[in-house]
Amino acid sequence: MIDRATIDKIYSSADIVEVISDFVTLKKKGVNYQACCPFHNEKTPSFVVSPSKGVFKCFGCGKGGNAITFVMEHEGVSYVDALKYVAKKYGIEVQERELSEEEKRENDDRESMMVVTSYANDYFKKSLRETEEGRNIGMSYFRERGFGDAIIDKFGLGYCPAAGSAFSDMAVREGYKEDFLVRTGLTIKRESGGYYDRFAGRVMFPVHSLSGRVIAFGGRTLRTDKKTAKYLNSPESEIYHKSNTLYGIYFAKKAITQQNFCILVEGYFDVLSMVQSGVENVVASSGTSLTSEQIRLISRFTKNITVIYDGDAAGIKASIRGIDMILKEGLNVRVVLMPEGEDPDSFAQSHSSEELSDYIRENEVDFISFKTNLLLSEVKNDPIGRAAMITDIVGSIAVIPDEIVRSQYIRECSRLTDSDEQMIAREVMRRRVDMLEGSAGREVLQNMERKESYKRRKQQEEEEQSLLAERIKESMPSPTDELERELVVYLLKYGNKDFYFQQHDAQGHNMEPVELNVAQTIIEELEIDNIEFRNTVYKSIYDEYVKMYKMREELVASAKEGDEPVERVSINEFINNPVPAVCDFVVDILTKDDAYRASKIWSKFDDVVLTEEDNLNVAVPKAIAVYKLRVIGEITRSLLEEIKGADEDTAMEILHKIKALDDSRKIICEKYSRIL
Ligand code: CTP
Ligand code: MN
Repeated sequence: MIDRATIDKIYSSADIVEVISDFVTLKKKGVNYQACCPFHNEKTPSFVVSPSKGVFKCFGCGKGGNAITFVMEHEGVSYVDALKYVAKKYGIEVQERELSEEEKRENDDRESMMVVTSYANDYFKKSLRETEEGRNIGMSYFRERGFGDAIIDKFGLGYCPAAGSAFSDMAVREGYKEDFLVRTGLTIKRESGGYYDRFAGRVMFPVHSLSGRVIAFGGRTLRTDKKTAKYLNSPESEIYHKSNTLYGIYFAKKAITQQNFCILVEGYFDVLSMVQSGVENVVASSGTSLTSEQIRLISRFTKNITVIYDGDAAGIKASIRGIDMILKEGLNVRVVLMPEGEDPDSFAQSHSSEELSDYIRENEVDFISFKTNLLLSEVKNDPIGRAAMITDIVGSIAVIPDEIVRSQYIRECSRLTDSDEQMIAREVMRRRVDMLEGSAGREVLQNMERKESYKRRKQQEEEEQSLLAERIKESMPSPTDELERELVVYLLKYGNKDFYFQQHDAQGHNMEPVELNVAQTIIEELEIDNIEFRNTVYKSIYDEYVKMYKMREELVASAKEGDEPVERVSINEFINNPVPAVCDFVVDILTKDDAYRASKIWSKFDDVVLTEEDNLNVAVPKAIAVYKLRVIGEITRSLLEEIKGADEDTAMEILHKIKALDDSRKIICEKYSRIL
């Protein structure tokens, strides 16, 4: 297990809005945040996150909890794994168990590699600004391409000196290990001894991970000869996997969430120019063809992608490939083509930021229109060409996992190409069946199956639950559960409050009311009669509360003058309870207002809606009394059953017990006669 101190640290660092935002797009609504619930299907948002309470709650399906239980539920992982996930997010080290030597080394190695890339990034930034070569060559290049200091700073751009091994020599001199310099790809070892800088003489683009650490670089040459590769990138390594990285994602994720769409471009400069002109929700696939991992990365923040590629043939080809990838992942895709001869970089540099936004808004089309327009212009009225075009579009529709979305596109396609909708639907179907044979088909099939089995599981769960509820109802002529719940609610919500208890003398005359503390009264009253809760969830909350309560009382008793005041037990201490059912319950009572229900039960005046708190004077003693009487009644009943088959001695013993219970009952009735 993870030690308590670390768990506490994780809980106190975890910002529930930040944690949930990694999976769900939240919208601010007053002091809270709102979204469509990720745990059930809905169109209007009933999923609420309260940053001040540190909890989430869906008022549609009832799911609720804290940051950790959210990760557990959403990702289907264990408590420990959820803790580890959040720890990682906040850079908290988790010493769960002794790592094996092997694992330790791997961890240490990755960390060492990132120390090296971070050092390199500092070095390149410095050399861009503080060396003559950097200023004359690197900086003037960036200026020439229209970049100001702000954007250069934000993205950490740099320059690697042209002298063959200046960076590597400096790094080694400063104590960085050759091994890590080589494994990050920054340094290449010469056969003849000595080093060679991979990026010598290039301007540098650091690539940041989702959490903002530098994991790789891209370097652009300033030479114009065709022999030198325009861009060099860091090789794959333990810390850099090209296929699941997107350039700019760290800086863009917030804007992507807020605007609920992500702009996808091809290159480093496209990202920089767009951000500089105020469009911040932009990332680049950096020349590699888009991968499904990259799309899934985006889908954590939005389901809408707008692809902006060059207007040339290569750009169009790349965007068509990208479109099918995105559709396959179940995301919505729109396409914007740049005017002939422009890329997003050149366009952003030569237009105002309004013109850029307007251009995107006015020119983005859904993929069907995009493909149709593109292909229509090629085929004109050639019937064979038209058939080929439709086949092509059908191919794209067929990969969409969602049936409803698919059928919408089928309609759209039939409208745009002026062909029969049924025919297209049949073609799509046929294509899907074909696909099921290839490996892409397998993936689609698996996707469908996963969804199906999830639906089935959900349904089964629901059936089981309602069956269980039914059975509980049947077997519960005496619902102690409800009463235990009531008591726990009073403890958690009003444990620190006082109430007035109206006593009376033997003749039934009122005496001076006594002021009692809610928690103390409940705990003492249950202890007198040795009553323990039966419901496991309520019992674990109650027991924990009592333990905490007694500990604080001891602290109060032993406190000296000038000591810090002892904090009372608070409901907030239960929100982060590791038992999901406990956490669930606490969140439930925190978010649901019991006031109305309680007042309906207790208030003698139907038209006066009293709050729970107003009613403590009556409600607390009543809840205690009713509960105790019910428990006593149940025990008595079972003893009476027992007595039937017992021999004489045992029967006598049981009778004594019953007598004692009856005495307790009388005392309770006497004490609470007014209320009952
Ligand atoms: N790219 C690469 N290696 C290359 C060429 C391109 O990794 N040899 C990647 C880079 O990430 C580049 C992107 O593909 O940013 C797009 O390529 P391109 O359009 O050729 O480059 P631009 O970003 O337009 O660069 P520039 O404007 O400087 O020509
Ligand atoms: Mn360019």
